[in-house]
Amino acid sequence: MEKKHISLVLTFISLFLLTSSSHSYLILDNFIECFSHDFPLSTTSLDVIHTPSNSSYSSLLESPIRNLRFLTSTTPKPLAVITPSTYDHVQATVTCCRKHGVQIRTRSGGHDYEGLSYTSNVPFIILDLVNLRAIDVNSEENSAWVQSGASLGELYYWISQKSPSHGFPAGICPTIGVGGHFSGGGYGTISRKYGLAADNVLDAVIVNADGQILDRKSMGEDLFWAIRGGGGSSFGVIVAWKIKISYVPPLVTVFSPSRTLDQGATNLVYKWEQIANKLPEDLFIRLVIVADGEGKNRTIRVTFNSLFLGRTDQLLEVMKESFPELGLIKEDCREMSWIETILYFDNRNGQTIDGLKNRVPDPKGFFKATSDYVEEPLSQAALEKLWKWCLEEERPALIFEPYGGIMDKIPEWQLPFPHRKGNLYNIQYFVQWSVGSNEASERHINWMRRLYQHMTPYVSKGPRRAYLNYRDLDFGVHSNISGTTYSEAKKWGAKYFSKNYRALAFIKGKVDPENFFNDEQSIPPFK
Ligand SMILES: Cc1cc2nc3c(=O)[nH]c(=O)nc-3n(C[C@H](O)[C@H](O)[C@H](O)COP(=O)(O)OP(=O)(O)OC[C@H]3O[C@@H](n4cnc5c(N)ncnc54)[C@H](O)[C@@H]3O)c2cc1C
Ligand SMILES: *[C@@H]1O[C@H](CO)[C@@H](O)[C@H](O)[C@H]1NC(C)=O
Ligand SMILES: *[C@@H]1O[C@H](CO)[C@@H](O)[C@H](O)[C@H]1NC(C)=O
Ligand SMILES: *[C@@H]1O[C@H](CO)[C@@H](O)[C@H](O)[C@H]1NC(C)=O
Repeated sequence: MEKKHISLVLTFISLFLLTSSSHSYLILDNFIECFSHDFPLSTTSLDVIHTPSNSSYSSLLESPIRNLRFLTSTTPKPLAVITPSTYDHVQATVTCCRKHGVQIRTRSGGHDYEGLSYTSNVPFIILDLVNLRAIDVNSEENSAWVQSGASLGELYYWISQKSPSHGFPAGICPTIGVGGHFSGGGYGTISRKYGLAADNVLDAVIVNADGQILDRKSMGEDLFWAIRGGGGSSFGVIVAWKIKISYVPPLVTVFSPSRTLDQGATNLVYKWEQIANKLPEDLFIRLVIVADGEGKNRTIRVTFNSLFLGRTDQLLEVMKESFPELGLIKEDCREMSWIETILYFDNRNGQTIDGLKNRVPDPKGFFKATSDYVEEPLSQAALEKLWKWCLEEERPALIFEPYGGIMDKIPEWQLPFPHRKGNLYNIQYFVQWSVGSNEASERHINWMRRLYQHMTPYVSKGPRRAYLNYRDLDFGVHSNISGTTYSEAKKWGAKYFSKNYRALAFIKGKVDPENFFNDEQSIPPFK
């Protein structure tokens, strides 16, 4: 009786799988037919479509994935990976997906913390922009055009090749993609001086839900505002950006002394909280905090991971004035060109800057992260409690990123990214593990959730805010994407965008009223 029951269930399941996968093939066939209809003369255009029967499918799908939590046998896979080499291919993909009810997940660098650029619970294709990564730097005009599929490393490399006195304010990890990063903000070592990557965008080219290709002028200022920090995935496929590049001196200084609890780390962090956002804009000191050592040696180690846009002598004077407690000495400092600091901050010591052109995969691991904004310094007691939490976890990391500088001068509504004046620093909580069992994942993720709960009294309130590029699905997801509501999505919308959430929803309602571009945390169209 029991056996019969099980086999009945099994038959039912396999029938279901059979019908759902043949349904998928049907959708895929229709999509391919539609796509080739747009390119009747070009036989090569189909080479940009990689289906599971092509040997290229798996490596294309998997190689940019950074978070192994979303690379398992049960992770939903795309019907196809499309790798457009022209903007027409992007337009055809949008048009044909919309016509045949296939969802698009756009991927530039694949660094999304929750895998939203390459997984979905409905039939979907990945539009992977890896072959759209041209970079054209015009140092006389202090500008550059960069396609979304370029990595930050490639962008930094080509800027430095054109001009040793230019750089760009964007993130620290060179394998991040331009497309996701710029559209979510983009914060890095020179953001206290020049702002976010998004603050330095002058123009952009987007393919909208109707398959039209638009630049700043034709898309209008509202949409152009929304894609600079509001998240690209709600609004279209941004294929290229024009950016303003910034002046950097030919020699800059880096230093990264670290201190353990025995060496007075707590007091130093407490002092850092008072001054990090008030330091000169040329000085960036972020904290990388880990728990390391075994047994009795286990301690908290704080690294003061820093860049100064100037020479060592001048830096030592600034430090003597503002942070003498750290005891920085000349021997802690190294002078180098700005492009070399990219390797330094990514711990690529000994590698050459040519390596920035390779989209070298980072060491992969399973991870969970989230973020907070701090408006009042944590007390020493609160810091000590935080250390206790970290000592209990195997491989935790906290990154404290200082704000202030130009970030205080940009109005909250200038771009969707609202975390400006009054924020001392951002905390990124990060936990990594290397065994992908459900038990391990659950244990580490639970640690993160309990810590987030614990931190409530110490961080921004009403709403408790977070950085979109450190996406966390724990803040909530759409329960029903076709019936999605403005108020439901406010749970995470207010965290990421504060008062700007409303304007984003209005713009979404205008440019994509049918909500074609959506994901678990996309902006719903305001109706
Ligand atoms: C190791 C690591 C280090 C990081 N360091 C920093 C840092 O220093 N500073 C910082 O600010 N952030 C940092 N981040 C976060 C990073 O900025 C975000 O994860 C960013 O969204 C990644 O962009 P991507 O193109 O690589 O990601 P993807 O996974 O490709 O995309 C992320 C999101 O953007 C959408 N998207 C991507 N491309 C486009 C496009 N062309 N048009 C429309 N939508 C698009 C995707 O659909 C997805 O929703 C880091 C992340 C990692 C994993
Ligand atoms: C994928 O396979 C199809 C059918 O065999 C073939 O026509 C197409 O050229 C292949 N695409 C790629 C990118 O290799
Ligand atoms: C602690 O560190 C010391 C010095 O590095 C080392 O000799 C010792 O074995 C370590 N103890 C433990 C328990 O790991
Ligand atoms: C989702 O929302 C749509 C539109 O409001 C509604 O028709 C549908 O029944 C809802 N589905 C579920 C599962 O609630």
